[in-house]
Amino acid sequence: MNQPVSLIALDAVPDGGFTEVEVVIDGDAESLVLHRVGEQVRGYLNICPHAGRRLDWAPGQFLKSREGHLVCAAHGASFALDSGECVAGPCKGDHLRAVALQIRDGQVQLAP
Ligand code: FES
Repeated sequence: MNQPVSLIALDAVPDGGFTEVEVVIDGDAESLVLHRVGEQVRGYLNICPHAGRRLDWAPGQFLKSREGHLVCAAHGASFALDSGECVAGPCKGDHLRAVALQIRDGQVQLAP
């Protein structure tokens, strides 16, 4: 049985904030944005559905709006963090691609 892939320690992800990690998924190197709320972490591919650009303005540096949305650094699309849905901006109604995660032994892991 494959070992689950650990991405980062839960404590290394700031509560309410973001962290970027690199991981290989299905043979492809991917950048993920992780967002933590308490003991929960959501993960999305770090790819904006508008023009395919990275969401961060520098590696691991993500913008958060006053409303608590993740804002793409390229053209300002805003994404709800619970669903990944673009709620404002040029790709309104599109979604970030969610990556299933689990927390085990204080580690954020890819869900098998
Ligand atoms: S690439 Fe993200 S808003 Fe254009």
